[in-house]
Amino acid sequence: MSNNERTFIAVKPDGVQRGLIPEILTRFQNKGYKLVGIKLTLANETLLKQHYADLTSKPFFPKLLSYMMSGPILATVWEGKDAVKQGRVLLGATNPNASAPGTIRGDYAVEVGRNIVHGSDSVENAEKEIALWFKKEELVDYKPTMYGWI
Ligand code: TYD
Repeated sequence: MSNNERTFIAVKPDGVQRGLIPEILTRFQNKGYKLVGIKLTLANETLLKQHYADLTSKPFFPKLLSYMMSGPILATVWEGKDAVKQGRVLLGATNPNASAPGTIRGDYAVEVGRNIVHGSDSVENAEKEIALWFKKEELVDYKPTMYGWI
C-alpha cells in the first residue's frame, strides 16, 4: 500500500444516465482521494474485451458488452492511500443486493447487470486499466493544498 496508489473507477452507462456522476465523484472526493484523470467516453468492443479479459467466456459476457456500450462512461483515476482496496469498499459488492447500505451499489442499485460503477480489484489490474483507458498525458500530477492530503 502506498500513499500515491492509483485506481481506475468508472461510472457505467446506467450511472451516467441516472445522473449519478456528481454523487459518485463526491464520495471519492469526500473520502480523501485526489482526482488525477477524468473523461466522458464511449467504450468499444476491442477495449471492453481487454478490460474484461478474464470474463469473455462467461455466459453473461454478451449482455455485459452491450450494457457497457449502451452509452457514455465516465472514466476516472483516483490517487491516495490504499486507493484500490478502499475504492472497492466505497463501491460495495459486485451484486448490489449483497452490498451494504452506505456503499454506492448498496445505495443505488439492485441488479448485478446494472451495478453502475466499476473499480479495479488489484493494484496490478489498476495499472493495466489506467493504461487501457487513458493516455499518459491525460493524467495530471499536482500537489493538492487542501487539508487531508499528505
Ligand atoms: P466482476 O469483475 O466479477 O465484478 P466487479 O465488477 O465487481 O469487479 O464482473 C464484472 C461485471 O460483470 C460486474 O460488475 C457486473 C457483470 N456481471 C454480471 O452481469 N453477472 C454476473 O453474474 C457477474 C459475476 C458479473
